[in-house]
Amino acid sequence: MSSNSDAPMTGRAQPSHAEVAGHERLTIIENNLALTLLAKLRDRRTDVAAFNAIAAELARLVVYEACKDIALATKWGEGFDGSPLDLQIPARVIAGVTVLRAGLIFEPAFRLLLPASPLYQLGLRRNEETLEPTIYADNLPNERSWADRVLLVDPMLATGGTATAAIDVIRRNHSGRIDALALVAAPYGVRAVIDHDANTHVTALALDDHLNDLGYIVPGLGDAGDRYFGTV
Ligand code: URA
Repeated sequence: MSSNSDAPMTGRAQPSHAEVAGHERLTIIENNLALTLLAKLRDRRTDVAAFNAIAAELARLVVYEACKDIALATKWGEGFDGSPLDLQIPARVIAGVTVLRAGLIFEPAFRLLLPASPLYQLGLRRNEETLEPTIYADNLPNERSWADRVLLVDPMLATGGTATAAIDVIRRNHSGRIDALALVAAPYGVRAVIDHDANTHVTALALDDHLNDLGYIVPGLGDAGDRYFGTV
């Protein structure tokens, strides 16, 4: 890339924070303690071990929030004194789709909170010059009715190019609700996802200000995959 005018986001109009913030299909988690942890992720001096521990913790919070209204069923169990007890379990199949590689940040949270749920992987590589994604891996099921609800997990909702491509793959065989989960979202990406699919809801910890010319979220936290895997 020779000059900034060649950069993929240069000259693209971006919606403001205020234009997107109140959308009915956007949930920004309001939790001040979580913001103190997110601040540590934003700080470039945070090392990879601390980054991973904090990112895993915050990913849990996002999954909790997105799933707080799931339908419940009960199964038989035993209480502390041996008496029978109804125990709550998810009533319907909630499947995950993780966008490689940064989406793996959500894997520990997903496994802990939804232990019986399948977590599929989508490999999407974004071209750094055009920001257009191409699919290099896809193990989503081909049969219908593989999930009642799908959680699409990717920590950074930036341009929305990857998320909308992932939604198209999910929509091959899923007509129900999709929840796009992120740690940090940009107004541009939220707008792209919400306009792309009328049954997708976005949940994130923070709605940041804008994308820079290269498509990075500002203030953001940098390349989430590199920060998590220590591959800067
Ligand atoms: N992907 C990232 O990891 N970070 C950004 O800011 C944008 C896309």
